[in-house]
Amino acid sequence: MEKRSLGDGGPELPVVGMGTWRTFDMLGGASRDVVDAALDAGVELLDSSPMYGSAEELLGDALKGRRDDAFVATKIWTHSADEGRHQAERALRWLGGHIDLYQVHNLVAWREQLALIEALRDEGLVRYTGATHYSPSAFSELADVMRTGRVDAVQIPYNPRERAVERQILPLAADMGIGVVVMRPFGEGGLLWDAPGQSELEPLREFGVETWPQALLKWIFSDERVTVAIPATSKPERMRENAAAGEPPWFGPEERALVERLATR
Ligand SMILES: NC(=O)c1ccc[n+]([C@@H]2O[C@H](COP(=O)([O-])OP(=O)(O)OC[C@H]3O[C@@H](n4cnc5c(N)ncnc54)[C@H](OP(=O)(O)O)[C@@H]3O)[C@@H](O)[C@H]2O)c1
Repeated sequence: MEKRSLGDGGPELPVVGMGTWRTFDMLGGASRDVVDAALDAGVELLDSSPMYGSAEELLGDALKGRRDDAFVATKIWTHSADEGRHQAERALRWLGGHIDLYQVHNLVAWREQLALIEALRDEGLVRYTGATHYSPSAFSELADVMRTGRVDAVQIPYNPRERAVERQILPLAADMGIGVVVMRPFGEGGLLWDAPGQSELEPLREFGVETWPQALLKWIFSDERVTVAIPATSKPERMRENAAAGEPPWFGPEERALVERLATR
């Protein structure tokens, strides 16, 4: 699978990662199978949050014995300084004593929580810092956070129906050498409900596309400003299907335009 650097001087990561919102909270024991499928397919970045019910703890359980194969991204999500420290203590306990990318979730109390994340980094418990937001209404504040030079990566939505990041966030990330993690590559699954037929995907076959989810992922990776996308799934075979989209070749403008037409008709 292709690897890209998480910002200037950051680690090289395979372009396909995995999210855990909803899929892990509801799953229980099956999460081990999905994590095994992900790691076996070469996926490294696994994303979670205390906002996702018991997903962080389940991810930690599923990684027992394989923690070093993964690059774990999780988040702090609270207005309270005390609760922020508790979330960090729990996450460190569940996730093998270190967090690879620690992000401020939805920019909640970002000044306080980013300072905590930096302190944990200085103690050697966190490797990289980040901030996330899902809403275009918060992107100008996210850009302000990026301009402080204190985050190594941002996590934002990007897919053919959600392109607001193209205006400010992606150019700024490229200029500043900040990594980009793409949430919601399938629009929380909404982009898959009315999937195009096989004949409509024919022009994409020579790019290694066999399925519509793979076309959507390749559309994202064809933008070189993206570092990793994190589709969530509860099914090991879908994790393998998604991981297969991490191999070049990438689309040119014509193929990107085709995917945009199919996704927005
Ligand atoms: N949504 C947000 O606002 C948000 C915010 C912050 C962070 N994130 C992070 O971003 C991650 C990804 O976003 P997301 O979970 O919202 O949505 P997503 O990845 O765009 O879509 C997930 C949905 O797609 C389905 N799916 C995945 N692969 C598939 C395949 N190959 N074929 C058919 N269906 C497939 C999954 O269902 P099955 O389980 O049935 O496969 C699931 O319902 C989250 O898990 C989280 O870590 C999201």
